[in-house]
Amino acid sequence: MASETYERSQRTDMAKSELLPAENQTFLREFSKLMQCYQGALKVASTQLEVLDAELRSSNAHQPIHYMESRIKTPKSLFDKMRKKGFEINMRNVQRITDIAGIRVVCSYTQDIYYLYDLIQKSECFRILRVRDYIRSPKPNGYRSLHLVVTVPVHLSEGTLNLPVEVQLRSIAMDLWASLEHELRYKSDRIFSEEDEQKLLSCAETLAVVDAQMQELFRREEPESEMEG
Ligand code: GTP
Ligand code: MG
Repeated sequence: MASETYERSQRTDMAKSELLPAENQTFLREFSKLMQCYQGALKVASTQLEVLDAELRSSNAHQPIHYMESRIKTPKSLFDKMRKKGFEINMRNVQRITDIAGIRVVCSYTQDIYYLYDLIQKSECFRILRVRDYIRSPKPNGYRSLHLVVTVPVHLSEGTLNLPVEVQLRSIAMDLWASLEHELRYKSDRIFSEEDEQKLLSCAETLAVVDAQMQELFRREEPESEMEG
């Protein structure tokens, strides 16, 4: 996913992609149909998160979601990932990839991340398949975010499909670091020296301190009971 772009709404015309094995018309048809279902899953998950955010804003006067962006993996990125994992490109293996639909939720404070996580756990709309907490256990390079793989129901004429959506929850400070690190690493195809890696790590740690201090300031302003609902 690292080389992909999250946009507020990205339409991907799968059928027109030159990257699909055009000789396999059945695959092409089924693949396009499945990607449409993933678009549906993305909408279901985003809408549910927006509903929660709006409800919290009106009842708490605090909006946990600063902003949200989503994307469907491009066919190129999907097939590259499958090849990297050693998967043959077929419909069954496409469905083994859990981040075809992805949502990034940027929260104001770290506390908001865990508050939303709690609501997601309690919500009947989401079923949590996997949790990776890179906030409590940051990656060695300093990357922080809470990654969830959830499934959401997509109701179709033929029945209901439960499809996975990867939800990345992070604070504004975590997003700042991840966005710039991604930009430096991928946009300029740069290989970081040991010294650069150390600087990035130190920036991530500084931002974590900033996050904790901002959280503390917010906590003093807002009675905690308001957030516990
Ligand atoms: P892949 O999905 O194959 O990448 O592996 P995974 O499911 O084990 O994913 P992981 O949890 O490591 O990360 C998934 C996504 O999180 C990536 O595609 C990025 O969007 C983001 N991410 C993870 N690590 C980093 C990082 O070091 N820097 C930045 N900028 N983003 C990261
Ligand atoms: Mg992933």
